[in-house]
Amino acid sequence: MTPIRAATEGAIREAAALLRDGRLVAFPTETVYGLGADATNERAVAAIFAAKGRPRFNPLIVHVADAAAAADLVVLDKPAHILMEAFWPGPLTIVARRSAASPLSLLACAGLDTIAVRAPAHPVARALIDACGRPVAAPSANRSEELSPTRAEHVAESLGGSTAMILDGGACAVGLESTIIDTTTDPPSLLRPGGLPAPEIVAVIGWLEQQRNGAVRAPGMLKRHYAPSRPLRLDAKSAAPGEVLLAFGPDAPDEAMNLSKAGDLAEAAANLFAMLRALDTPGVTAIAVMAVPDHGLGQAINDRLRRAAAPRANAAPSKR
Ligand code: TXA
Ligand code: MG
Repeated sequence: MTPIRAATEGAIREAAALLRDGRLVAFPTETVYGLGADATNERAVAAIFAAKGRPRFNPLIVHVADAAAAADLVVLDKPAHILMEAFWPGPLTIVARRSAASPLSLLACAGLDTIAVRAPAHPVARALIDACGRPVAAPSANRSEELSPTRAEHVAESLGGSTAMILDGGACAVGLESTIIDTTTDPPSLLRPGGLPAPEIVAVIGWLEQQRNGAVRAPGMLKRHYAPSRPLRLDAKSAAPGEVLLAFGPDAPDEAMNLSKAGDLAEAAANLFAMLRALDTPGVTAIAVMAVPDHGLGQAINDRLRRAAAPRANAAPSKR
């Protein structure tokens, strides 16, 4: 089992050396924990896919310090610059065309001619990227399809054996993965709702194409995803026998686990994955989730809940 290390300066330096050496390191970002590898090292990137059980067609997000570092990897047009200026560092990933001289592993991009780049805001992530001196490819640090980790212990539970180090930076403040915007379309399009609410983006660039119903634009946006192993029942008012309740808002029983008693969507987002994990226990027939308002961060929360509730391919729901 990989030890969890407090993210001291010394530990971050060691982690950066491991990355440069082609090893995997899990680290905190403000959204969720990432499983990092040197994005220019094909073998290190291959180890990410193996550790996660991730399909090879699903490309990774490449983490950089800032817009200048992104410009070494991708061709940035005006909307991309405006978005980076407004929201970086932060929970926004930008998809742009790969530049001819890009040193990135082809596997990291799953052979696409576009690359997803993000400058995270978490100080530990930033220090690690600086110390590594290379772009860091990092998907969420969980097995493919499972819940994303928002604490170092979640990473240890799901990927403990396959990473050289887990840097502990505490609980993730945002708790949902980054919002992904494709800037290769005109207007730019929303590929994944996430930690940065879409209306904030529209306020800056004027217009955003919503992902069309059913169309899979980010290859990783498979229908079932972010899923606990027990079934989810959405829009529940209360828990049926055998179920546990995941509540939202002030009108819930006191003893229920509550995403936010105050009805605060940012608090609910930060609690979502950790609470789903906590309720995903043997003997529970289903997790009954109360309705969450579908505005602001609620859109990303509901996106994750719908994916978590989608039936598992090739398995009878009753067997889960
Ligand atoms: O908040 C986050 O984004 C976290 C932290 C660690 O930064 N990372 C994360 O990575 O959520 P991952 O691998 O779990 O999700 C990456 C998503 C996938 O849906 C993938 O298909 C999409 O980004 N993606 C990556 N490259 C892409 C590209 N070139 N075009 C379209 N979608 C892309
Ligand atoms: Mg993920």
